[in-house]
Amino acid sequence: MGAGISIDDIYSLVSPKAKLLDSSGMLIHALSMPKYLSESIVRYKEDVSKLTLPDPSTFDGVVISGMGGSFISGLFLQDLASDRSSKAIILNRDVRLPRFIDEKKLLVAVSYSGNTEETLRIYLEGLRRNIPVVAVTSGGELAAVSEKLGKPVIRLPPGIPPRAAFPHLTAAIAALTSSVLGLDLLGELRRAIDELAKREDSVLSDGLALSRLLFSDVQNNLTPLIYGYSPYLSPAYRFKTQINENSKIHAFFGELPEANHNEIMGWNGVLKSFTVVFVRGREEPKYMEARIEFLENLFDKNNIRFYNLHGNCETRACELLSLIMKADVASIALALLLGVDPTPVDTITQLKKFLDSKIGFSLHREIN
Ligand code: F6R
Repeated sequence: MGAGISIDDIYSLVSPKAKLLDSSGMLIHALSMPKYLSESIVRYKEDVSKLTLPDPSTFDGVVISGMGGSFISGLFLQDLASDRSSKAIILNRDVRLPRFIDEKKLLVAVSYSGNTEETLRIYLEGLRRNIPVVAVTSGGELAAVSEKLGKPVIRLPPGIPPRAAFPHLTAAIAALTSSVLGLDLLGELRRAIDELAKREDSVLSDGLALSRLLFSDVQNNLTPLIYGYSPYLSPAYRFKTQINENSKIHAFFGELPEANHNEIMGWNGVLKSFTVVFVRGREEPKYMEARIEFLENLFDKNNIRFYNLHGNCETRACELLSLIMKADVASIALALLLGVDPTPVDTITQLKKFLDSKIGFSLHREIN
């Protein structure tokens, strides 16, 4: 990462105890994103070519269904492609599929672990409604049932925290959906990786600088509030969720321009202990620039702290990847500054165990 700078040097830039705290190497995962993405592009292109899928021209859209770390790659692809493809990109985070989803949609059921109830229920509904469905997973019930039924499945490498599997998930979903969407998404990602390589230093320095600012604000009891807008929603939303899971603190996400029609009133009230980050890209339209300028003036008047996180690449794919890397680095370094190991997500694990004992949903049982 970065010319002449070792991972040990990077950890010591964060704090003297950072390396020890990051026992499962979450920072290494984040900084290795371009490498994993580049390997995954080759791997999943080949894996997808071996699947038996309906002719892409028979589809009028794709549905990408997944939760948490398995959701974000769908949002990334929507940011990247939805204004350039004539086919619909529908994201689903519910346990049910909307009625209009039919056999003309390719349903991609994404669960890194393969055991997430919401995604298993969607997979089942897809099967029952004869919607062509592909599983993207590292194992669990999703892999076992797909294989048992002879349904297509893309296997991800095991043993990675789902949110750190972003490059694998993204390449797999891009490989599956490119031909339906009529775009060379894998080619775009490959070129973005080359572009990103020239900007590695700014990814690291911007991410670390932001982590220090947020650390100081969090110590002053300010809660991060991340604002984003299309086509940069995925890095903004990713930033919020990565702060939640890595740094183990509350953080919230607001979408512009909608937040200007409701949330904006909150700055007049008594609950405004937030520190704001605007996630911004090169394709920012004038109408958005003006809206952010208004907010910045409002924040200045009300002594609200705010920062801008920029992508600084030529292409949209590179901007999205660089923003996601900066957000990942900032959230992990924030965790380490707070003295928190970024990897474990104990409460999510406890919830899943509780749901298992309470509901005990089993895809195996449902298909038998
Ligand atoms: C953990 C994480 C979570 C999971 C989510 C869904 O690293 O990121 O947000 O991604 O609980 O689980 P999976 O991805 O296994 O379907």
